[in-house]
Amino acid sequence: MSTAAPKVTVPEILRLKTTGQKITALTAYDYPFARIVDACGIDVILVGDSVATVVQGVETTLPVTMDEMVYHCKLVTRARPRALVVGDLPFLSYQAGVCAAIANAGRLLKDGGVEAVKLEGGINVARVMKAIVNVDIPVMAHIGLTPQSVHRMGGFKVQGKKSGRQPGARERLLDDAHAVEDAGAFAVVLEGVPMDLAQEITEQLSIPTIGIGAGPFCDGQILVLHDILGLTDRFSPKFVKQYVNLQDVVSQAVSAYIGDVRGGAFPQDQHSFHS
Ligand code: KIV
Repeated sequence: MSTAAPKVTVPEILRLKTTGQKITALTAYDYPFARIVDACGIDVILVGDSVATVVQGVETTLPVTMDEMVYHCKLVTRARPRALVVGDLPFLSYQAGVCAAIANAGRLLKDGGVEAVKLEGGINVARVMKAIVNVDIPVMAHIGLTPQSVHRMGGFKVQGKKSGRQPGARERLLDDAHAVEDAGAFAVVLEGVPMDLAQEITEQLSIPTIGIGAGPFCDGQILVLHDILGLTDRFSPKFVKQYVNLQDVVSQAVSAYIGDVRGGAFPQDQHSFHS
């Protein structure tokens, strides 16, 4: 009899909120990291559109395409993760209309193999979200600091501050949270939100909140994998906790290899074939 842990499903993520067990989530964009992250027992793997900034080396998430997202979803799901795999809908793949949104969300499931999709926005995307949910594609919402709205926000700024320049921002974020719950989202990412507001939203919603820069009171936490591994040269936000500096580890290994090849220490007999 197999003792393997059961597959994480959408109902299981909803159940975790009722038990109080924190939901763990990380991004992954390829097979090797999906395999490693999954073996550690993570609940959710997000194939984030952050692939643009983290892997493709561009400034924002705006340029990444549907074809590229499908490709990265395929690489991750090829690892057959136990975790729930969520694919990010990229900029302009869902904003232009319900039909395109359903078709693009469907592609991430049909071609990319993911089990749910994520899209950014609250009240403004509730109609599209509902339409995707109505064809039985589970949706994770994402409100607060939504990176696809970087130009409207004027940068990557914390949203919903009491002291912010936009009066009513806090109330609007609460309305967004209720709108995505009403539209049928099974979970909502709260990014760049003051922790007291994230707590209020978490207490008011029946669906789980998954925080990134939203404090400790959310039902779960998500971070970008390359940030926690120290594998990125981009600005590191305050909310990131770096657990290892893989950039240094990789540099040491590569430098040692270069030294070995130049100095004749590699390859040796055990790395070579005999005729
Ligand atoms: O694209 C992404 O990686 C994300 C998470 C960090 C929430 O949206």
